[in-house]
Amino acid sequence: MARREAARLLRRLGPLAVESWTRGMPHSQHESANRIVNSCRRFHWIPSLQRPLCGPTTSGGIYEGQSSAKKACEVQKHTFGSAATHIQRNPAYSELNSDDVSYFKSILGENGVVQDEDRVAVANVDWMGKYSGASQLLLLPKNTTEVSKILSYCNTRRLAVVPQGGNTGLVGGSVPVYDEVIVGLSGMDKIISFDNVNGILTCEAGCVLENLSNFVENEGFIMPLDLGAKGSCHIGGNVSTNAGGLRFIRYGSLHGSVLGLEVVLADGTILDMLTTLRKDNTGYDLKHLFIGSEGSLGVVTKISVLTPAKLPSTNVAFLSCNDYKSCQKLLLAARRSLGEILSAFEFMDHHCIDLAMRHLEGVHNPLPASPYKFYVLIEITGSDESYDKTKLEAFLLRSMEDGLVADGVIAQDISQASNFWRIREGISEASVKVGAVYKYDLSIPVEKLYDIVEEMRCRLGDSAEVLGYGHLGDGNLHLNIVSSKYDDNTLERIEPFVYEWTSAQRGSISAEHGLGLMKAEKIHYSKSPEAVQLMASIKKLLDPNSILNPYKVLPQSVL
Ligand code: FAD
Ligand code: MLT
Ligand code: ZN
Repeated sequence: MARREAARLLRRLGPLAVESWTRGMPHSQHESANRIVNSCRRFHWIPSLQRPLCGPTTSGGIYEGQSSAKKACEVQKHTFGSAATHIQRNPAYSELNSDDVSYFKSILGENGVVQDEDRVAVANVDWMGKYSGASQLLLLPKNTTEVSKILSYCNTRRLAVVPQGGNTGLVGGSVPVYDEVIVGLSGMDKIISFDNVNGILTCEAGCVLENLSNFVENEGFIMPLDLGAKGSCHIGGNVSTNAGGLRFIRYGSLHGSVLGLEVVLADGTILDMLTTLRKDNTGYDLKHLFIGSEGSLGVVTKISVLTPAKLPSTNVAFLSCNDYKSCQKLLLAARRSLGEILSAFEFMDHHCIDLAMRHLEGVHNPLPASPYKFYVLIEITGSDESYDKTKLEAFLLRSMEDGLVADGVIAQDISQASNFWRIREGISEASVKVGAVYKYDLSIPVEKLYDIVEEMRCRLGDSAEVLGYGHLGDGNLHLNIVSSKYDDNTLERIEPFVYEWTSAQRGSISAEHGLGLMKAEKIHYSKSPEAVQLMASIKKLLDPNSILNPYKVLPQSVL
Protein backbone atom coordinates (compact mmCIF):
# COMPACT_ATOMS: atom_id res chain seq x y z
CA MET A 1 0.00 0.00 0.00
CA ALA A 2 1.34 3.42 -0.92
CA ARG A 3 2.34 5.67 1.94
CA ARG A 4 -0.27 8.30 0.95
CA GLU A 5 -3.02 5.69 0.87
CA ALA A 6 -1.99 4.41 4.26
CA ALA A 7 -2.02 7.93 5.68
CA ARG A 8 -5.50 8.47 4.22
CA LEU A 9 -6.66 5.27 5.81
CA LEU A 10 -5.27 6.38 9.12
CA ARG A 11 -7.29 9.56 8.93
CA ARG A 12 -10.42 7.88 7.65
CA LEU A 13 -10.44 5.64 10.63
CA GLY A 14 -10.90 8.63 12.86
CA PRO A 15 -9.73 6.89 15.94
CA LEU A 16 -6.60 6.18 14.01
CA ALA A 17 -5.93 9.85 14.29
CA VAL A 18 -4.37 7.96 17.15
CA GLU A 19 -5.42 9.95 20.13
CA SER A 20 -4.45 7.84 23.02
CA TRP A 21 -7.34 7.54 25.42
CA THR A 22 -5.02 8.53 28.18
CA ARG A 23 -3.79 11.55 26.29
CA GLY A 24 -4.01 14.89 27.98
CA MET A 25 -5.62 13.42 31.03
CA PRO A 26 -4.39 14.78 34.31
CA HIS A 27 -2.67 12.08 36.29
CA SER A 28 -5.49 11.62 38.77
CA GLN A 29 -8.03 11.36 35.97
CA HIS A 30 -5.81 8.89 34.20
CA GLU A 31 -5.62 6.83 37.35
CA SER A 32 -9.36 6.67 37.60
CA ALA A 33 -9.64 6.06 33.86
CA ASN A 34 -7.47 3.02 34.21
CA ARG A 35 -9.56 1.85 37.07
CA ILE A 36 -12.71 2.25 35.04
CA VAL A 37 -11.23 0.24 32.21
CA ASN A 38 -10.40 -2.44 34.65
CA SER A 39 -13.81 -2.41 36.17
CA CYS A 40 -15.33 -2.65 32.69
CA ARG A 41 -13.13 -5.64 32.06
CA ARG A 42 -14.34 -7.37 35.12
CA PHE A 43 -15.98 -10.64 34.58
CA HIS A 44 -18.38 -11.60 37.27
CA TRP A 45 -18.63 -15.30 37.23
CA ILE A 46 -20.52 -15.97 40.38
CA PRO A 47 -23.97 -15.49 38.82
CA SER A 48 -23.21 -17.95 36.06
CA LEU A 49 -22.13 -20.48 38.64
CA GLN A 50 -25.66 -20.43 39.92
CA ARG A 51 -26.89 -22.18 36.85
CA PRO A 52 -28.73 -25.52 37.08
CA LEU A 53 -26.31 -27.61 38.91
CA CYS A 54 -25.71 -30.87 37.14
CA GLY A 55 -24.24 -30.88 33.70
CA PRO A 56 -24.67 -28.42 30.85
CA THR A 57 -27.50 -25.92 30.89
CA THR A 58 -28.48 -26.71 27.34
CA SER A 59 -30.14 -29.72 25.81
CA GLY A 60 -27.36 -31.91 26.99
CA GLY A 61 -29.17 -35.19 26.37
CA ILE A 62 -28.49 -37.38 29.34
CA TYR A 63 -27.88 -34.42 31.60
CA GLU A 64 -31.26 -32.83 31.41
CA GLY A 65 -33.42 -32.90 34.44
CA GLN A 66 -30.71 -34.20 36.68
CA SER A 67 -30.86 -32.39 39.90
CA SER A 68 -28.77 -34.08 42.52
CA ALA A 69 -25.06 -34.45 42.89
CA LYS A 70 -25.58 -38.19 43.31
CA LYS A 71 -26.95 -38.42 39.79
CA ALA A 72 -24.10 -36.32 38.53
CA CYS A 73 -21.79 -39.01 39.83
CA GLU A 74 -23.38 -41.53 37.50
CA VAL A 75 -23.28 -39.03 34.65
CA GLN A 76 -19.61 -38.48 35.13
CA LYS A 77 -19.03 -42.14 34.48
CA HIS A 78 -21.04 -42.01 31.28
CA THR A 79 -19.15 -38.87 30.38
CA PHE A 80 -19.63 -36.68 27.33
CA GLY A 81 -17.63 -34.85 24.79
CA SER A 82 -14.16 -34.18 25.92
CA ALA A 83 -15.08 -34.42 29.58
CA ALA A 84 -13.71 -37.56 31.11
CA THR A 85 -12.73 -41.03 30.28
CA HIS A 86 -14.47 -43.96 31.87
CA ILE A 87 -13.00 -43.80 35.33
CA GLN A 88 -14.09 -46.04 38.16
CA ARG A 89 -14.25 -44.71 41.70
CA ASN A 90 -11.11 -45.86 43.49
CA PRO A 91 -12.39 -48.29 46.18
CA ALA A 92 -9.36 -47.53 48.35
CA TYR A 93 -11.01 -44.27 49.36
CA SER A 94 -13.25 -44.25 52.40
CA GLU A 95 -16.77 -42.93 52.30
CA LEU A 96 -17.63 -39.92 54.39
CA ASN A 97 -19.49 -40.64 57.64
CA SER A 98 -21.01 -38.63 60.46
CA ASP A 99 -17.90 -38.98 62.64
CA ASP A 100 -15.88 -37.31 59.91
CA VAL A 101 -18.34 -34.43 59.76
CA SER A 102 -18.22 -34.07 63.56
CA TYR A 103 -14.45 -33.98 63.49
CA PHE A 104 -14.42 -31.29 60.80
CA LYS A 105 -16.90 -29.25 62.83
CA SER A 106 -14.64 -29.55 65.85
CA ILE A 107 -11.74 -27.94 63.98
CA LEU A 108 -13.57 -25.53 61.64
CA GLY A 109 -16.72 -24.68 63.55
CA GLU A 110 -20.23 -24.98 62.10
CA ASN A 111 -19.62 -22.26 59.48
CA GLY A 112 -16.59 -23.97 58.03
CA VAL A 113 -18.47 -27.20 57.31
CA VAL A 114 -21.01 -26.81 54.53
CA GLN A 115 -23.55 -29.56 53.95
CA ASP A 116 -26.32 -27.40 52.61
CA GLU A 117 -27.37 -29.15 49.38
CA ASP A 118 -27.55 -26.04 47.23
CA ARG A 119 -24.18 -24.69 48.29
CA VAL A 120 -22.49 -28.06 47.93
CA ALA A 121 -24.15 -28.57 44.57
CA VAL A 122 -22.68 -25.28 43.27
CA ALA A 123 -19.21 -26.41 44.32
CA ASN A 124 -19.75 -29.75 42.56
CA VAL A 125 -20.06 -28.20 39.09
CA ASP A 126 -17.43 -26.38 37.06
CA TRP A 127 -17.81 -23.00 35.37
CA MET A 128 -18.67 -24.50 31.99
CA GLY A 129 -21.34 -26.73 33.49
CA LYS A 130 -19.48 -29.61 31.89
CA TYR A 131 -17.96 -31.53 34.77
CA SER A 132 -19.85 -32.46 37.88
CA GLY A 133 -19.16 -34.54 40.95
CA ALA A 134 -21.13 -35.88 43.87
CA SER A 135 -19.42 -34.51 46.94
CA GLN A 136 -21.55 -34.08 50.02
CA LEU A 137 -19.16 -31.83 51.87
CA LEU A 138 -17.55 -28.46 51.33
CA LEU A 139 -14.96 -27.42 53.91
CA LEU A 140 -13.97 -23.77 54.29
CA PRO A 141 -10.79 -23.42 56.33
CA LYS A 142 -9.80 -19.96 57.57
CA ASN A 143 -6.07 -20.49 57.97
CA THR A 144 -3.14 -22.77 57.21
CA THR A 145 -3.42 -24.69 60.47
CA GLU A 146 -6.98 -25.65 59.62
CA VAL A 147 -5.94 -26.80 56.14
CA SER A 148 -3.22 -28.85 57.77
CA LYS A 149 -5.65 -30.49 60.22
CA ILE A 150 -8.10 -31.28 57.40
CA LEU A 151 -5.46 -32.93 55.23
CA SER A 152 -3.85 -34.81 58.08
CA TYR A 153 -7.23 -36.26 59.01
CA CYS A 154 -8.24 -37.05 55.42
CA ASN A 155 -4.90 -38.73 54.83
CA THR A 156 -5.29 -40.96 57.88
CA ARG A 157 -8.89 -41.75 56.99
CA ARG A 158 -8.16 -42.04 53.25
CA LEU A 159 -10.77 -39.52 52.32
CA ALA A 160 -10.10 -38.06 48.88
CA VAL A 161 -9.93 -34.27 48.60
CA VAL A 162 -10.33 -31.71 45.83
CA PRO A 163 -8.83 -28.26 46.49
CA GLN A 164 -11.01 -25.53 45.02
CA GLY A 165 -10.23 -21.88 44.36
CA GLY A 166 -12.59 -19.69 42.34
CA ASN A 167 -13.79 -22.72 40.34
CA THR A 168 -13.11 -21.06 37.00
CA GLY A 169 -10.84 -23.85 35.73
CA LEU A 170 -11.61 -25.13 32.24
CA VAL A 171 -10.38 -28.73 32.40
CA GLY A 172 -12.50 -30.24 35.16
CA GLY A 173 -9.73 -30.04 37.77
CA SER A 174 -11.55 -27.98 40.36
CA VAL A 175 -14.59 -30.18 41.00
CA PRO A 176 -14.91 -33.68 42.41
CA VAL A 177 -15.26 -36.64 40.11
CA TYR A 178 -17.06 -38.73 42.74
CA ASP A 179 -17.52 -37.97 46.42
CA GLU A 180 -14.24 -36.21 47.20
CA VAL A 181 -14.36 -33.68 50.01
CA ILE A 182 -14.12 -30.17 48.56
CA VAL A 183 -11.67 -27.89 50.35
CA GLY A 184 -12.54 -24.34 49.29
CA LEU A 185 -9.96 -21.64 49.87
CA SER A 186 -12.31 -18.65 49.69
CA GLY A 187 -12.08 -18.02 53.45
CA MET A 188 -8.33 -17.45 53.19
CA ASP A 189 -8.36 -14.09 51.48
CA LYS A 190 -6.08 -11.84 53.49
CA ILE A 191 -3.31 -9.68 52.11
CA ILE A 192 -0.41 -10.32 54.46
CA SER A 193 2.05 -7.63 53.38
CA PHE A 194 3.10 -5.43 50.50
CA ASP A 195 6.67 -4.27 50.07
CA ASN A 196 6.16 -1.09 48.07
CA VAL A 197 9.86 -0.58 47.45
CA ASN A 198 10.39 -3.89 45.70
CA GLY A 199 6.78 -4.50 44.66
CA ILE A 200 6.43 -7.81 46.50
CA LEU A 201 2.97 -8.91 47.52
CA THR A 202 2.43 -11.65 50.09
CA CYS A 203 -1.10 -12.94 50.51
CA GLU A 204 -3.29 -15.92 51.23
CA ALA A 205 -4.25 -18.28 48.44
CA GLY A 206 -7.96 -17.44 48.44
CA CYS A 207 -7.51 -13.79 47.42
CA VAL A 208 -9.47 -13.02 44.26
CA LEU A 209 -7.11 -11.89 41.50
CA GLU A 210 -9.07 -8.74 40.77
CA ASN A 211 -8.98 -7.66 44.40
CA LEU A 212 -5.23 -8.09 44.39
CA SER A 213 -5.00 -6.10 41.16
CA ASN A 214 -6.96 -3.23 42.68
CA PHE A 215 -4.87 -3.35 45.81
CA VAL A 216 -1.47 -3.26 44.12
CA GLU A 217 -2.62 -0.66 41.60
CA ASN A 218 -3.35 1.69 44.47
CA GLU A 219 0.26 1.18 45.47
CA GLY A 220 1.53 1.96 41.96
CA PHE A 221 2.09 -1.64 40.82
CA ILE A 222 0.20 -4.22 38.77
CA MET A 223 -0.28 -7.95 39.05
CA PRO A 224 1.98 -9.82 36.59
CA LEU A 225 -1.04 -11.73 35.28
CA ASP A 226 -4.50 -10.83 34.09
CA LEU A 227 -7.27 -13.05 32.77
CA GLY A 228 -10.91 -12.88 31.86
CA ALA A 229 -11.87 -14.78 35.00
CA LYS A 230 -10.13 -12.35 37.33
CA GLY A 231 -13.36 -11.36 39.08
CA SER A 232 -13.64 -14.90 40.48
CA CYS A 233 -10.38 -16.82 40.20
CA HIS A 234 -8.04 -16.98 43.19
CA ILE A 235 -4.33 -16.36 43.19
CA GLY A 236 -3.94 -19.86 44.69
CA GLY A 237 -5.86 -21.27 41.71
CA ASN A 238 -3.71 -19.19 39.35
CA VAL A 239 -0.54 -20.57 40.88
CA SER A 240 -1.87 -24.11 40.96
CA THR A 241 -2.75 -23.98 37.27
CA ASN A 242 0.24 -21.80 36.33
CA ALA A 243 -2.27 -19.56 34.57
CA GLY A 244 -0.98 -17.68 31.55
CA GLY A 245 -3.43 -15.03 30.44
CA LEU A 246 -3.19 -11.66 28.79
CA ARG A 247 0.04 -10.27 30.20
CA PHE A 248 2.20 -13.33 29.64
CA ILE A 249 3.85 -11.82 26.57
CA ARG A 250 5.20 -9.00 28.74
CA TYR A 251 5.70 -10.48 32.21
CA GLY A 252 6.12 -14.18 31.49
CA SER A 253 5.08 -17.21 33.50
CA LEU A 254 4.26 -17.45 37.19
CA HIS A 255 7.35 -19.65 37.46
CA GLY A 256 9.19 -16.35 37.10
CA SER A 257 6.95 -14.05 39.16
CA VAL A 258 6.16 -16.24 42.14
CA LEU A 259 8.92 -15.78 44.71
CA GLY A 260 7.64 -18.01 47.45
CA LEU A 261 4.88 -20.36 48.52
CA GLU A 262 3.47 -21.93 51.61
CA VAL A 263 2.00 -25.33 50.85
CA VAL A 264 0.27 -27.96 52.95
CA LEU A 265 1.19 -31.49 51.93
CA ALA A 266 -1.20 -34.43 51.84
CA ASP A 267 -0.22 -35.60 55.35
CA GLY A 268 -0.76 -32.13 56.81
CA THR A 269 2.89 -31.06 56.84
CA ILE A 270 3.19 -27.32 56.39
CA LEU A 271 5.98 -26.57 53.93
CA ASP A 272 7.22 -23.02 54.41
CA MET A 273 8.85 -21.79 51.21
CA LEU A 274 7.44 -18.30 51.58
CA THR A 275 10.58 -16.40 50.72
CA THR A 276 10.44 -12.96 49.17
CA LEU A 277 13.97 -13.10 47.78
CA ARG A 278 14.63 -12.48 44.10
CA LYS A 279 17.61 -14.80 44.12
CA ASP A 280 17.94 -17.97 46.17
CA ASN A 281 19.95 -20.95 44.94
CA THR A 282 19.96 -23.03 48.09
CA GLY A 283 19.19 -26.46 46.76
CA TYR A 284 16.25 -27.51 44.64
CA ASP A 285 13.65 -24.80 44.10
CA LEU A 286 10.73 -26.85 45.38
CA LYS A 287 8.06 -24.22 44.84
CA HIS A 288 8.15 -24.95 41.12
CA LEU A 289 6.74 -28.42 41.77
CA PHE A 290 3.56 -26.86 43.07
CA ILE A 291 3.19 -24.16 40.41
CA GLY A 292 0.97 -25.81 37.83
CA SER A 293 0.45 -29.06 39.77
CA GLU A 294 -3.32 -28.47 39.85
CA GLY A 295 -3.85 -29.42 43.48
CA SER A 296 -2.37 -32.86 43.02
CA LEU A 297 0.74 -32.39 45.20
CA GLY A 298 -0.37 -30.03 47.95
CA VAL A 299 -2.70 -27.22 48.88
CA VAL A 300 -1.20 -23.80 48.29
CA THR A 301 -2.02 -21.57 51.25
CA LYS A 302 0.20 -18.48 50.86
CA ILE A 303 1.99 -16.82 48.00
CA SER A 304 4.55 -14.09 47.53
CA VAL A 305 4.66 -12.60 44.09
CA LEU A 306 6.71 -9.98 42.35
CA THR A 307 4.53 -7.21 40.91
CA PRO A 308 5.77 -4.96 38.09
CA ALA A 309 5.53 -1.18 38.34
CA LYS A 310 2.36 0.35 36.97
CA LEU A 311 3.16 2.50 33.94
CA PRO A 312 1.26 5.67 33.12
CA SER A 313 0.36 5.23 29.46
CA THR A 314 -1.75 2.50 27.87
CA ASN A 315 -3.12 2.31 24.34
CA VAL A 316 -5.21 -0.40 22.77
CA ALA A 317 -5.64 -1.02 19.05
CA PHE A 318 -8.11 -3.33 17.35
CA LEU A 319 -6.91 -4.32 13.91
CA SER A 320 -8.03 -6.56 11.08
CA CYS A 321 -5.92 -8.68 8.78
CA ASN A 322 -6.89 -10.40 5.58
CA ASP A 323 -5.06 -13.63 6.22
CA TYR A 324 -3.32 -15.53 8.98
CA LYS A 325 0.11 -14.96 7.45
CA SER A 326 -0.40 -11.23 7.96
CA CYS A 327 -1.22 -11.76 11.66
CA GLN A 328 1.97 -13.72 11.99
CA LYS A 329 4.05 -11.05 10.24
CA LEU A 330 2.35 -8.38 12.31
CA LEU A 331 3.43 -10.15 15.49
CA LEU A 332 7.02 -10.17 14.35
CA ALA A 333 6.78 -6.52 13.32
CA ALA A 334 5.21 -5.61 16.68
CA ARG A 335 7.98 -7.40 18.52
CA ARG A 336 10.56 -5.48 16.52
CA SER A 337 8.92 -2.05 16.56
CA LEU A 338 7.05 -1.99 19.85
CA GLY A 339 9.35 -4.36 21.74
CA GLU A 340 9.62 -2.92 25.21
CA ILE A 341 6.12 -1.39 25.30
CA LEU A 342 4.16 -4.31 23.84
CA SER A 343 1.89 -5.60 26.61
CA ALA A 344 -0.63 -7.78 24.74
CA PHE A 345 -0.95 -9.34 21.31
CA GLU A 346 -4.22 -11.24 21.11
CA PHE A 347 -5.80 -12.80 18.09
CA MET A 348 -9.31 -13.87 17.01
CA ASP A 349 -10.75 -15.16 13.77
CA HIS A 350 -13.99 -13.75 12.41
CA HIS A 351 -16.00 -16.68 13.79
CA CYS A 352 -15.10 -15.43 17.26
CA ILE A 353 -16.18 -11.90 16.43
CA ASP A 354 -19.49 -13.14 14.99
CA LEU A 355 -20.08 -15.25 18.08
CA ALA A 356 -19.22 -12.39 20.44
CA MET A 357 -21.62 -10.09 18.59
CA ARG A 358 -24.38 -12.67 18.79
CA HIS A 359 -24.00 -13.58 22.44
CA LEU A 360 -22.38 -10.77 24.41
CA GLU A 361 -24.53 -7.95 25.60
CA GLY A 362 -23.47 -4.38 24.95
CA VAL A 363 -20.45 -5.05 22.74
CA HIS A 364 -20.10 -3.79 19.20
CA ASN A 365 -17.74 -4.61 16.37
CA PRO A 366 -15.19 -1.80 16.16
CA LEU A 367 -14.66 -2.58 12.46
CA PRO A 368 -18.14 -3.31 11.18
CA ALA A 369 -17.77 -1.93 7.66
CA SER A 370 -16.20 -4.89 5.94
CA PRO A 371 -15.93 -8.47 7.00
CA TYR A 372 -12.35 -9.46 7.68
CA LYS A 373 -11.02 -12.91 8.37
CA PHE A 374 -8.75 -12.11 11.30
CA TYR A 375 -8.57 -9.62 14.11
CA VAL A 376 -5.72 -8.65 16.39
CA LEU A 377 -5.82 -6.71 19.64
CA ILE A 378 -2.58 -4.95 20.46
CA GLU A 379 -1.99 -3.22 23.77
CA ILE A 380 1.02 -1.09 24.53
CA THR A 381 1.95 0.09 27.99
CA GLY A 382 4.81 2.46 28.60
CA SER A 383 6.24 5.25 30.63
CA ASP A 384 6.24 8.08 28.10
CA GLU A 385 2.94 8.85 26.58
CA SER A 386 3.99 10.90 23.59
CA TYR A 387 6.89 8.59 22.77
CA ASP A 388 4.64 5.53 23.01
CA LYS A 389 1.99 7.15 20.86
CA THR A 390 4.48 8.14 18.19
CA LYS A 391 5.83 4.62 18.12
CA LEU A 392 2.40 3.12 17.77
CA GLU A 393 1.41 5.54 14.99
CA ALA A 394 4.55 4.80 13.06
CA PHE A 395 4.08 1.08 13.55
CA LEU A 396 0.50 1.15 12.30
CA LEU A 397 1.38 3.29 9.34
CA ARG A 398 4.16 0.92 8.32
CA SER A 399 1.97 -2.13 8.86
CA MET A 400 -0.70 -0.67 6.61
CA GLU A 401 1.82 0.27 3.96
CA ASP A 402 3.18 -3.24 4.07
CA GLY A 403 -0.32 -4.64 3.72
CA LEU A 404 -0.25 -6.46 7.04
CA VAL A 405 -3.14 -4.53 8.53
CA ALA A 406 -6.32 -4.11 6.50
CA ASP A 407 -8.14 -1.78 8.85
CA GLY A 408 -7.96 -0.76 12.45
CA VAL A 409 -8.94 1.50 15.26
CA ILE A 410 -7.25 2.77 18.38
CA ALA A 411 -9.36 3.28 21.45
CA GLN A 412 -10.07 6.96 21.96
CA ASP A 413 -11.52 6.56 25.35
CA ILE A 414 -12.06 4.13 28.12
CA SER A 415 -15.30 2.72 26.84
CA GLN A 416 -13.76 1.90 23.45
CA ALA A 417 -10.80 0.23 25.11
CA SER A 418 -13.03 -1.84 27.34
CA ASN A 419 -15.22 -2.77 24.37
CA PHE A 420 -12.15 -4.15 22.55
CA TRP A 421 -11.11 -6.13 25.59
CA ARG A 422 -14.64 -7.30 26.28
CA ILE A 423 -14.80 -8.86 22.82
CA ARG A 424 -11.56 -10.75 23.33
CA GLU A 425 -12.15 -11.77 26.93
CA GLY A 426 -15.80 -12.62 26.30
CA ILE A 427 -15.21 -15.33 23.69
CA SER A 428 -15.29 -18.14 26.27
CA GLU A 429 -18.50 -16.79 27.77
CA ALA A 430 -20.07 -16.47 24.30
CA SER A 431 -18.98 -20.04 23.44
CA VAL A 432 -20.63 -21.49 26.52
CA LYS A 433 -23.89 -19.78 25.57
CA VAL A 434 -24.08 -21.82 22.36
CA GLY A 435 -24.41 -25.00 24.41
CA ALA A 436 -21.60 -27.50 23.97
CA VAL A 437 -17.95 -26.43 23.87
CA TYR A 438 -15.15 -28.82 22.99
CA LYS A 439 -12.27 -26.76 24.33
CA TYR A 440 -8.62 -27.18 23.40
CA ASP A 441 -5.73 -25.07 24.61
CA LEU A 442 -2.68 -25.73 22.48
CA SER A 443 0.90 -24.51 22.23
CA ILE A 444 1.91 -24.69 18.60
CA PRO A 445 4.70 -22.95 16.68
CA VAL A 446 3.15 -19.68 15.46
CA GLU A 447 3.64 -20.43 11.77
CA LYS A 448 1.54 -23.61 12.06
CA LEU A 449 -0.90 -22.40 14.68
CA TYR A 450 -3.90 -21.73 12.45
CA ASP A 451 -3.52 -24.87 10.30
CA ILE A 452 -5.27 -27.00 12.90
CA VAL A 453 -8.26 -24.64 12.91
CA GLU A 454 -8.65 -24.98 9.16
CA GLU A 455 -8.14 -28.74 9.22
CA MET A 456 -10.72 -29.06 11.95
CA ARG A 457 -13.22 -27.07 9.90
CA CYS A 458 -12.70 -29.49 7.00
CA ARG A 459 -13.20 -32.47 9.29
CA LEU A 460 -16.36 -31.17 10.89
CA GLY A 461 -18.10 -29.48 7.96
CA ASP A 462 -21.35 -27.87 9.07
CA SER A 463 -21.80 -30.04 12.12
CA ALA A 464 -20.13 -27.55 14.46
CA GLU A 465 -18.58 -24.10 14.44
CA VAL A 466 -14.81 -23.97 14.83
CA LEU A 467 -13.28 -20.93 16.53
CA GLY A 468 -9.61 -19.99 16.63
CA TYR A 469 -8.35 -17.35 19.04
CA GLY A 470 -5.74 -16.94 21.69
CA HIS A 471 -2.52 -15.46 22.88
CA LEU A 472 -0.71 -15.35 19.55
CA GLY A 473 2.25 -13.61 21.11
CA ASP A 474 2.80 -16.73 23.24
CA GLY A 475 2.10 -19.29 20.50
CA ASN A 476 -1.05 -20.31 22.38
CA LEU A 477 -4.12 -21.23 20.34
CA HIS A 478 -7.54 -21.67 21.90
CA LEU A 479 -9.42 -24.00 19.59
CA ASN A 480 -13.07 -24.06 20.56
CA ILE A 481 -15.57 -26.20 18.74
CA VAL A 482 -19.11 -25.18 19.56
CA SER A 483 -22.43 -26.75 18.81
CA SER A 484 -25.85 -26.90 20.41
CA LYS A 485 -25.18 -30.19 22.21
CA TYR A 486 -22.47 -32.72 22.90
CA ASP A 487 -22.39 -35.83 20.79
CA ASP A 488 -20.02 -38.71 20.38
CA ASN A 489 -19.76 -38.46 16.58
CA THR A 490 -18.43 -34.94 16.79
CA LEU A 491 -16.03 -35.95 19.52
CA GLU A 492 -14.72 -38.86 17.48
CA ARG A 493 -13.92 -36.50 14.63
CA ILE A 494 -12.04 -34.17 16.98
CA GLU A 495 -10.14 -36.58 19.22
CA PRO A 496 -7.59 -38.08 19.08
CA PHE A 497 -6.87 -36.11 15.89
CA VAL A 498 -6.34 -32.82 17.74
CA TYR A 499 -3.85 -34.40 20.13
CA GLU A 500 -2.02 -36.37 17.45
CA TRP A 501 -1.72 -33.30 15.27
CA THR A 502 -0.36 -31.19 18.15
CA SER A 503 2.05 -33.90 19.16
CA ALA A 504 3.33 -34.18 15.59
CA GLN A 505 4.22 -30.48 15.72
CA ARG A 506 5.96 -31.06 19.06
CA GLY A 507 3.39 -28.75 20.58
CA SER A 508 1.67 -28.99 23.94
CA ILE A 509 -1.88 -30.21 24.51
CA SER A 510 -2.13 -27.85 27.46
CA ALA A 511 -0.59 -24.43 27.03
CA GLU A 512 -2.10 -22.77 30.09
CA HIS A 513 -5.32 -24.41 31.33
CA GLY A 514 -3.72 -27.58 32.71
CA LEU A 515 -4.67 -31.22 32.28
CA GLY A 516 -7.28 -31.61 35.02
CA LEU A 517 -9.69 -34.46 34.46
CA MET A 518 -10.11 -33.72 30.78
CA LYS A 519 -6.57 -34.53 29.71
CA ALA A 520 -5.06 -36.62 32.51
CA GLU A 521 -5.02 -39.65 30.26
CA LYS A 522 -3.61 -37.65 27.34
CA ILE A 523 -0.39 -36.43 28.91
CA HIS A 524 1.70 -38.79 26.77
CA TYR A 525 0.94 -36.67 23.71
CA SER A 526 3.20 -33.99 25.18
CA LYS A 527 5.46 -35.76 27.67
CA SER A 528 7.75 -38.76 27.32
CA PRO A 529 7.02 -42.00 29.27
CA GLU A 530 10.13 -41.33 31.39
CA ALA A 531 8.90 -37.85 32.31
CA VAL A 532 5.44 -39.17 33.19
CA GLN A 533 7.00 -41.92 35.34
CA LEU A 534 9.07 -39.36 37.21
CA MET A 535 5.97 -37.25 37.78
CA ALA A 536 4.22 -40.34 39.15
CA SER A 537 7.13 -40.99 41.51
CA ILE A 538 6.95 -37.43 42.79
CA LYS A 539 3.20 -37.78 43.28
CA LYS A 540 3.67 -41.03 45.22
CA LEU A 541 6.37 -39.47 47.37
CA LEU A 542 4.32 -36.41 48.30
CA ASP A 543 0.91 -38.06 48.42
CA PRO A 544 1.37 -41.80 49.01
CA ASN A 545 -2.33 -42.39 49.67
CA SER A 546 -3.24 -40.40 46.58
CA ILE A 547 -5.86 -38.36 48.42
CA LEU A 548 -5.17 -35.08 46.59
CA ASN A 549 -7.29 -34.38 43.54
CA PRO A 550 -7.63 -37.98 42.36
CA TYR A 551 -8.20 -38.91 38.71
CA LYS A 552 -6.62 -35.62 37.61
CA VAL A 553 -3.34 -34.61 35.92
CA LEU A 554 -1.69 -38.06 35.65
CA PRO A 555 -3.01 -41.26 34.04
CA GLN A 556 -4.44 -43.80 36.46
CA SER A 557 -2.14 -46.46 35.02
CA VAL A 558 1.05 -44.89 36.41
CA LEU A 559 -0.22 -44.34 39.95
P1 FAD B 1 -10.01 -23.46 40.31
O1 FAD B 1 -10.75 -23.47 39.03
O2 FAD B 1 -10.81 -23.49 41.54
O3 FAD B 1 -8.98 -24.67 40.35
C1 FAD B 1 -8.14 -24.94 39.27
C2 FAD B 1 -7.17 -26.06 39.67
O4 FAD B 1 -6.30 -25.62 40.70
C3 FAD B 1 -7.86 -27.29 40.23
O5 FAD B 1 -7.13 -28.42 39.87
C4 FAD B 1 -7.80 -27.09 41.73
O6 FAD B 1 -7.82 -28.32 42.43
C5 FAD B 1 -6.49 -26.38 41.90
N1 FAD B 1 -6.45 -25.41 42.99
C6 FAD B 1 -7.18 -24.28 43.15
N2 FAD B 1 -6.77 -23.63 44.25
C7 FAD B 1 -5.79 -24.35 44.80
C8 FAD B 1 -4.95 -24.19 45.95
N3 FAD B 1 -5.03 -23.15 46.74
N4 FAD B 1 -4.02 -25.14 46.20
C9 FAD B 1 -3.88 -26.22 45.40
N5 FAD B 1 -4.64 -26.42 44.31
C10 FAD B 1 -5.57 -25.49 44.01
N6 FAD B 1 -6.60 -19.58 32.29
C11 FAD B 1 -5.44 -19.11 31.78
O7 FAD B 1 -4.39 -19.72 32.02
N7 FAD B 1 -5.40 -18.00 30.99
C12 FAD B 1 -6.51 -17.29 30.69
O8 FAD B 1 -6.45 -16.31 29.97
C13 FAD B 1 -7.74 -17.74 31.23
N8 FAD B 1 -8.88 -17.06 30.98
C14 FAD B 1 -10.04 -17.53 31.47
C15 FAD B 1 -11.20 -16.83 31.16
C16 FAD B 1 -12.41 -17.29 31.62
C17 FAD B 1 -13.63 -16.53 31.27
C18 FAD B 1 -12.48 -18.46 32.41
C19 FAD B 1 -13.78 -18.97 32.92
C20 FAD B 1 -11.34 -19.16 32.72
C21 FAD B 1 -10.11 -18.71 32.25
N9 FAD B 1 -8.92 -19.38 32.53
C22 FAD B 1 -7.74 -18.92 32.02
C23 FAD B 1 -8.95 -20.61 33.33
C24 FAD B 1 -8.95 -20.34 34.87
O9 FAD B 1 -9.49 -19.12 35.16
C25 FAD B 1 -7.56 -20.42 35.42
O10 FAD B 1 -7.11 -21.73 35.30
C26 FAD B 1 -7.43 -19.98 36.87
O11 FAD B 1 -6.08 -19.88 37.20
C27 FAD B 1 -8.12 -20.92 37.85
O12 FAD B 1 -8.18 -20.31 39.11
P2 FAD B 1 -9.31 -20.71 40.15
O13 FAD B 1 -9.04 -20.00 41.42
O14 FAD B 1 -10.65 -20.50 39.57
O15 FAD B 1 -9.02 -22.24 40.34
C1 MLT C 1 -8.83 -17.07 27.12
O1 MLT C 1 -7.71 -16.81 26.71
O2 MLT C 1 -9.84 -16.44 26.77
C2 MLT C 1 -8.95 -18.12 28.16
O3 MLT C 1 -7.86 -18.94 28.26
C3 MLT C 1 -10.26 -18.80 28.25
C4 MLT C 1 -10.64 -19.70 27.13
O4 MLT C 1 -9.81 -20.11 26.35
O5 MLT C 1 -11.81 -20.02 27.04
ZN1 ZN D 1 -6.17 -18.09 27.31
